[in-house]
Amino acid sequence: MTSRAARPNLPAELRAALEARLQGFSRNDAGERAALISKTYREGGGSGAIQSSTDALAYALARMPATYAAVAASLNALCEIRPDFAPSSLLDIGAGPGTATWAAAEAFPSLRDFALLDANDALRSLALELAQDSARLRDVNYKRGEARAALAKAEAADFVVASYMISELSDAEQKAVAALIWEKTHDTLLVVEPGTPAGYARIIALRQQLISAGAHVAAPCPHDKKCPLAAPDWCHFTQRLQRSRAHKQVKGAELPFEDEKFAYVALTRAPVAPRPARVLAPPVVAKAEVTTKLCTPDGLAFMTSPRRNKAAYNEARKRRWGDAAGVGDIADI
Ligand SMILES: C[S@@+](CC[C@H](N)C(=O)[O-])C[C@H]1O[C@@H](n2cnc3c(N)ncnc32)[C@H](O)[C@@H]1O
Repeated sequence: MTSRAARPNLPAELRAALEARLQGFSRNDAGERAALISKTYREGGGSGAIQSSTDALAYALARMPATYAAVAASLNALCEIRPDFAPSSLLDIGAGPGTATWAAAEAFPSLRDFALLDANDALRSLALELAQDSARLRDVNYKRGEARAALAKAEAADFVVASYMISELSDAEQKAVAALIWEKTHDTLLVVEPGTPAGYARIIALRQQLISAGAHVAAPCPHDKKCPLAAPDWCHFTQRLQRSRAHKQVKGAELPFEDEKFAYVALTRAPVAPRPARVLAPPVVAKAEVTTKLCTPDGLAFMTSPRRNKAAYNEARKRRWGDAAGVGDIADI
């Protein structure tokens, strides 16, 4: 049993479970709590502001759809590179409301054992309530604890994921936790962070640390070398997701969708067969040609697909930011 594409929107079962918990809560209260939690995040604080069940629900309604979409997109990129990867055990670090666990369960029908850990009691309780409604996730093993101590006691898993979690650790802690999560990875590790320059910098530091410890990159990079991007450029991607009515109300948003920017890296124990290039920005479509910015095994490149080559031009027009791509007519920059 291999992987399947995870859609960017929350699975119906999870959406229904979240909305059921909103019954009896004032959406205005949930919106106010969500705004306060977002403000704390913007000011550099972490999930410490999430203390009650209302806070946890407000956080989940406001942020879970977007972090889910980012994890689903990262999982799809990983599965495209490793279509035969069929993990049976998962370890979700800093699992919060269980977002990455739900996404991994969608992508990998092979998953049987789900272990989660997090320091936040309110988010853990909400995750367990949401999981009760799922036949596959009802029996998850969710430990409460600080990452370092809990990881030391955790069993290794085929697939380990840390979604929007590393950003909440101090620099020294990030290094120690990265080493520990790699130790607990039998096969593949996925780390997802916000798609900001700071999120990218954390991903790059962790990537470098773990390559030095023997890891190989499965995605997004088609190589294990140093990242070829130089500041102010940074590697990140974007995923569009639909907003439900509850999501819009809690966020006080008008638009029926949002675009989540994220950065990620998937690391494996075994070397990965030659990987295709990665599209690093929306292709620029002009009359005469399409220009695609690519990370290739040999570094950064711009591929031009001239209109006179109809097949290549049409193929290049269809490419999306974040896609894996074959490399044709490359002009180095
Ligand atoms: C932004 S939330 C992300 C939650 C979830 N992974 C997601 O993608 O929706 C960060 C999570 O990391 C947890 N966390 C932060 N520092 C931690 C630590 N030192 N030990 C355990 N959990 C931690 C927080 O409690 C919170 O649930």
